[in-house]
Amino acid sequence: MSLWPAETQEMAKKLIGRYPDPKSAVMPLLYLAMRQDGYLTEAGMREVASWTGHTPAQVQSVATFYGMFKTERLGDYLVSVCTSISCMLLGGDEVLDAVEDETGVPHGETDAEGLFSVEHVECLGACGGAPAMQVNYELVEGSTPDQARSLCRWLREERPEAVNTDAMQEQFGGRRSFDWAITEDNSAVGPYPAFGPYGTLRRGDT
Ligand code: FES
Repeated sequence: MSLWPAETQEMAKKLIGRYPDPKSAVMPLLYLAMRQDGYLTEAGMREVASWTGHTPAQVQSVATFYGMFKTERLGDYLVSVCTSISCMLLGGDEVLDAVEDETGVPHGETDAEGLFSVEHVECLGACGGAPAMQVNYELVEGSTPDQARSLCRWLREERPEAVNTDAMQEQFGGRRSFDWAITEDNSAVGPYPAFGPYGTLRRGDT
């Protein structure tokens, strides 16, 4: 018998239906489990195993290999700062220092209130807009340390229910990798990648 509510079970069925073998749906289902519990609990990973036909150990090995699967509870806003070479050369370390100082949260930690989690990450694929950072995996490029501080203050004061890359870029970003030409009107709900089938995306917020 599933631990998940009916809505989450429906999402799981739809995700599994996209693959020829249920085992191939392990990663989407792990995101579903994260969204369900706030992070990957042992019970959540066992649930994924029962849906996909993997053993719990196999599910855990996938979950602990990839950095975007979290096995500890996150804050409402996961702030990820790139410190790989392009960003490091253009001030990524200083942006990370500013984020850690403004939030009071060091790399890899979450505050007691459950508002912020902070991490430094490897290349986000936005080197042309370095230094790059993300809030709940929504990209902000070219920020100065002061802009990064302002972004954190805005999150603390406004507590937006969803965050959107274009809106944050306009307010707190600088030079972008390139002109994306289209407006991104989807937003992320919670500290997970924003995908419709996972229930972590809000459409048409801007
Ligand atoms: S090095 Fe930071 S986005 Fe590539």
